[in-house]
Amino acid sequence: MPDLLVKLYDLPELAPLQMKLEAAGIKLCHPLVFDKRTVVEWVEKEFEREWACECEAAFAKQPITCLIAVQNGALIGFACYDVTCKGFFGPTGVSESARGQGVGKALLLAALHGLAEAGYAYGIIGGAGPVEFYQKAVGAIVIEDSSPGIYRDRLPSRE
Ligand SMILES: CC(C)(COP(=O)(O)OP(=O)(O)OC[C@H]1O[C@@H](n2cnc3c(N)ncnc32)[C@H](O)[C@@H]1OP(=O)(O)O)[C@@H](O)C(=O)NCCC(=O)NCCS
Repeated sequence: MPDLLVKLYDLPELAPLQMKLEAAGIKLCHPLVFDKRTVVEWVEKEFEREWACECEAAFAKQPITCLIAVQNGALIGFACYDVTCKGFFGPTGVSESARGQGVGKALLLAALHGLAEAGYAYGIIGGAGPVEFYQKAVGAIVIEDSSPGIYRDRLPSRE
């Protein structure tokens, strides 16, 4: 799983996709700190423990560098940025039942715009799973010889 590079000065606009999602009752927002346990526990249940750890770290920042997607009061997606390393995007995930509507792309765009606003010129997708998703959504470029990258000395998971 390589890292990918994204030009933050050349990002697609978020607004058209956000309006489409809002028409379908899907809202993106930064969670507030009192939602921390709800969000972190949801990430662990839907995805993995390591992602929940990274999500928890996003809540330690001000402003919180996590975004969530909510439909009918329920969490359906999340994305973190500037957490695993400075300028990194991820982890991210959308509930299986909510995929294919543009939620993943909207969370990605919102987070990358957040990195741009924080002053970065380039963003890095750390250990990208679905490379084509990132290439298609934001023209991400594979960084050669970047796998396993920073994940090389990762401790074995307890589970
Ligand atoms: C990857 C993920 C976040 C995508 O979320 P999603 O809400 O289904 O994606 P979207 O609906 O926004 O898709 C946007 C576009 O990317 C495409 N796309 C989505 N998933 C893709 C994939 N795995 N591979 C290639 N293209 C993909 C869609 O077809 C869509 O194309 P379009 O703009 O032409 O319609 C979601 O599948 C997921 O949570 N996967 C499991 C966790 C994961 O892999 N996270 C990333 C770790 S780096």
